[in-house]
Amino acid sequence: MNLLELSDDDLRAHVAAELARTRQRSAGLTDSVDDDDLVRQHSPLMSPLVWDLAHVGSQEELWLVRDVGGAEAIRPDIDDLYDAFQHPRADRPQLPLLGPAEARDYVGTVREKVFDLLARTPLEGRRLVDRAFAFGMIVQHEQQHDETMLATHQLRSGPPALTAEPTPSDVDVLPPEVFVPGGPFTMGTSTEPWALDNERPAHQVHVDDFYLDSTPVTNGRYLAFIEAGGYDDPRWWSEAGWAHRQSAELRAPRFWQLDGDRWLRRRFGHLEPVPEGEPVVHVSFYEAEAYAAWAGKRLPTEQEWEKAARFDPRSGRSRRYPWGDDDPRPEHANLGQRHLQPAPAGAYAAGAAPCGARQLIGDVWEWTASDFLPYPGFSAFPYREYSEVFFGPGYKVLRGGSFGTDRSACRGTFRNWDYPIRRQIFAGFRCARSPRAEERG
Ligand SMILES: [Fe+2]
Repeated sequence: MNLLELSDDDLRAHVAAELARTRQRSAGLTDSVDDDDLVRQHSPLMSPLVWDLAHVGSQEELWLVRDVGGAEAIRPDIDDLYDAFQHPRADRPQLPLLGPAEARDYVGTVREKVFDLLARTPLEGRRLVDRAFAFGMIVQHEQQHDETMLATHQLRSGPPALTAEPTPSDVDVLPPEVFVPGGPFTMGTSTEPWALDNERPAHQVHVDDFYLDSTPVTNGRYLAFIEAGGYDDPRWWSEAGWAHRQSAELRAPRFWQLDGDRWLRRRFGHLEPVPEGEPVVHVSFYEAEAYAAWAGKRLPTEQEWEKAARFDPRSGRSRRYPWGDDDPRPEHANLGQRHLQPAPAGAYAAGAAPCGARQLIGDVWEWTASDFLPYPGFSAFPYREYSEVFFGPGYKVLRGGSFGTDRSACRGTFRNWDYPIRRQIFAGFRCARSPRAEERG
């Protein structure tokens, strides 16, 4: 959907549909468990689900009802409780949070006011509302919390609560790597209406020739690393990675367990054999980096990843998505919790990039070698706390989105970031390498 070409009425209808579709997903994630499960903390890494729900409403109240609408506060008394910067996740269960019924009432009240606001706010003239940006930001924020709540579901013990369709089974056998020729390309965006501050502005970047894995690394390949003693050989690990491997006693992806001599995994309440053809998920940056070194490769930089995903050598321009400029459809990519796992490597022929790489969007977030840093010309918008306070060497960039990422919170320019030790997110990786001497023209 090109938001720049929509009429005012169509843009409002689009925003309303996105808000409604997003709320349906949040409702599915919170209605599928009982009240006890909603208020409980399933892992110190996560908030109780009921915190995420009310936090979504609280941000929506702050940014739309109060800032865009200039209306009076609905619940000024709870601002502090749902400020993510005030309370670390581990402490949130001790707060006097809204209960499940209260939280649902609250988000419903906020949403009614937002629909009202959407009907009467001019969607131009102010940068905050131009092409409905603030509404789009709130849609993406809720979708990001939906993915966080999905990760909480994965950490929850007990019988399965969620259902989904099986992943597509038509898979092509691909060459292991694709070649991406060196040269400049346009990275980031200045035109995507709902792009966030850290994706801006568009700028030219030179990338040397490189090879990229045509799909994310599979469980089968990752098992070969485990079986070759990869977790016990410091040669493959960075210093920080090895120290973490030792202290956290890592020996396999999170949620894997040995059953005799075969590996099983726990996935949303199901215990099942690890499927070898599926992209590996729930590995940290450090594990990804170690695997790549063992395989004689490295992780791609963020620049390399985005060039492979967006650059069209025929037109010389960067696309919105690997397949072109159209919004993601089910045949392009595994997004939006339509499936509760990655699709097998080699799926999604319709989603291939011009270089031939598959599954760059959807399936698993992909760790890159890059720190989370501002682009040249960056300016914080609409607030410093969105991205700027996170810039620096502490966070690594992840790209492409996972099966749990919504299509409205994912595009060729979208940047995610997290600590290099993180494993509960739906993250995997693919490898890159520079040409060997004999491959250079
Ligand atoms: Fe948030």
